[in-house]
Amino acid sequence: MKNTTLALSCALITMSTTLCMESEKPPIWQQAGEYDENSQRQLEISLLGLKEFSIKQNAHILELGCGTGNLAAKLAHDNPGISIVATDISPEMIQHAQNKHFSSAQISFAVQDAQHLPEEYTEEFNHVLCGHVIHWTKNHQAVLNGASRSLKPGGTLWMIGGRKVDHNNMLPIFTAFSALKQKAPWQETFKSTTLQSIVGIYPGINADTLESMLKNAGLKPIKLDTEFSPPALFKDKVALKKFLTPLAKAFPQFLALTEKDREDFLEDLIKEYLTGDEYAKIKSDDEKNGVISYLTGKNILLIAQKQ
Ligand SMILES: C[S@@+](CC[C@H](N)C(=O)[O-])C[C@H]1O[C@@H](n2cnc3c(N)ncnc32)[C@H](O)[C@@H]1O
Repeated sequence: MKNTTLALSCALITMSTTLCMESEKPPIWQQAGEYDENSQRQLEISLLGLKEFSIKQNAHILELGCGTGNLAAKLAHDNPGISIVATDISPEMIQHAQNKHFSSAQISFAVQDAQHLPEEYTEEFNHVLCGHVIHWTKNHQAVLNGASRSLKPGGTLWMIGGRKVDHNNMLPIFTAFSALKQKAPWQETFKSTTLQSIVGIYPGINADTLESMLKNAGLKPIKLDTEFSPPALFKDKVALKKFLTPLAKAFPQFLALTEKDREDFLEDLIKEYLTGDEYAKIKSDDEKNGVISYLTGKNILLIAQKQ
């Protein structure tokens, strides 16, 4: 554990901080190709969450943490009048997005830290979109403040984010991990990995303080669902494993394993998950429908308006 903590510290120190010394760019966000191949579920969940969000005709939109740009490209395709500035902290993600979707009059891509948006974005956009990003940032208030500043008065923010992992919101996959780490051959590798150390990497949003943070940012919630938890559906265990791989890479203990051990670990983790209490509640429906549901825990789905 000491070695892996050291490895993470070194990675964080040597990470390029092109935008700001406080920026964090976990190494996983450099694996843009891998993320792109395995992020169909994030896109599906975003499109589901966007159903109640009305996009203004000819809207000028800022997307924060756009990853490889698939949501921006889909929205641009479906709404020919809009224009989107799609941003992400990771130059690799932005490069991949550009190579895949190409910049156009409708979409442009830029490397930006959502916690430190540039002054030029002030009152510039009709909408700000932020899907599956804020829970990876340390300073949620800074993200909300920046989103609010970027919006024109009356403009709207749409956001999906993972809630803080704690006793009120235990992700079934973490429950599976807690059980697995007691078992051979994983006890030694994960003996000092606590929920707290995992949560330190994945901060999550605190639902109890969100409303006051929105108020501080001058944003008024129009819709605030703190129990938004659509399951992601996978056709088999291999597909679920592919989805979990980039997420697991956020954790130094996983990165420290050999390729073969990573494969074995994820297979054991999935086995544990599929025999867990949470999964038991939906198992029979999954069996009927020939899918595997990945239960995400509670997320926040937010639509808020700039005052
Ligand atoms: C789970 S991915 C979501 C990507 C995309 N929105 C999607 O739904 O597929 C999280 C993204 O947030 C980006 N990210 C992490 N911290 C960020 C920050 N401080 N500012 C902007 N982007 C950030 C990562 O580089 C990564 O592309």
